[in-house]
Amino acid sequence: MAQVQSALPLTHGKGFRDNLWQTIDERLSLHSLAYPVPEYANTIPYILGGITLFGFIILFATGIVMTQFYHPHPSEAHDSVTYIITQVPFGDFIRSIHFWTANLVVITALLHLLRIYWTGSYKKPREANWLVGVGLLALIIGFVFTGTIIKWDQEASEALSHFKEVGELLGGFGVLFSSEFSRSIPLLTRLYTSHITILPFLFLGLVAMHLFLVKTLKISPKPTETALAGDGYPPEQKMGNFAGHIRRMIGFGLILLAIVTALSYFFPAPLGLKAVPGEEVTKPPWMLLWLYPIENVLGVAGILYGGIVFFVLLALVPFVDRSPWLAPSRRRGMIIAAIVTIVILIALLVLALMSVPVTHTTGG
Ligand code: HEM
Repeated sequence: MAQVQSALPLTHGKGFRDNLWQTIDERLSLHSLAYPVPEYANTIPYILGGITLFGFIILFATGIVMTQFYHPHPSEAHDSVTYIITQVPFGDFIRSIHFWTANLVVITALLHLLRIYWTGSYKKPREANWLVGVGLLALIIGFVFTGTIIKWDQEASEALSHFKEVGELLGGFGVLFSSEFSRSIPLLTRLYTSHITILPFLFLGLVAMHLFLVKTLKISPKPTETALAGDGYPPEQKMGNFAGHIRRMIGFGLILLAIVTALSYFFPAPLGLKAVPGEEVTKPPWMLLWLYPIENVLGVAGILYGGIVFFVLLALVPFVDRSPWLAPSRRRGMIIAAIVTIVILIALLVLALMSVPVTHTTGG
């Protein structure tokens, strides 16, 4: 009967859109993806994860276009990027959208993380989802790093030298990241495979798990003075609707698209000259730049140790902060620890910007 009704649009005072939705929903059961959305979650801080997700859709779409023209062999890679920029219709623009979206997605993901931290949303029962989020952040860094290498200019070649030397520090396990691991496929080609298949595959898996946990555990309660981890919403909590929440995510996602379109128009993505082997004259992309002063002191090992310390500290957050309170004012120690960490990261960034590029690798 329901199917008969949905086949009769506009006949029962319902709009065409409602009928269309009902028809699709009856077949795909989309309503079962919905979860309760409290009113406060319809604000930007609670939509940052959704904006990041929208950014990844832009990255996948523009990335798929570029794979049609990019050649992942060391002798061809740089020329094929130049070909995308100069010969492919809208190639320069599509590449720039990919580049700018990658940069902005790192920012939205970090802001999302800070929101979760501020509102204590990593606490019971959301510890596992925090860890999934840490995994997503590691994958984002993996995307940025492999993306930097595959454009195969001077910056790329230096990033690859660092990658190999960090691999050597990992001992037996590091052989996976060396040129010797495969004699038939160059390391550049293998990193390209990671960029377009392994990392997206892992990413989609973790995103599915992340969203499944958001749905089953629901959005965390508002961090009021009395709110406790593990509690449900108080009875007076006003609820919004899920469709409106998704519409807002799409709306802000489109604003992100408008911003990257404008940036791409005015500031096309850069491409350096072909690499001069053995030279080290560039610094890492901004999201890894804080590691540079550490590398100046400890050598390439500084990247490994700095990265490990950063991710281990992040992963430990829900296990260190065991108090039941969600309100930032009742978690002063955690908030001060975050401020100190941010100040240290900014100080390292400033130091990195002020320092002159020096050679850290043997350039192999
Ligand atoms: C690609 C990266 C990521 C995507 C696409 C993503 C997506 C999302 C989405 C759509 C939500 C629903 C609510 C919202 O939008 O705020 C969410 C919630 C959540 N995310 Fe993420 N996220 C990412 C990275 C992270 C990171 C880096 C962390 C922390 C280390 C994290 C931890 C969480 C937690 C704990 C929740 C539940 C929040 C709550 O219940 O209030 N996520 N994420």
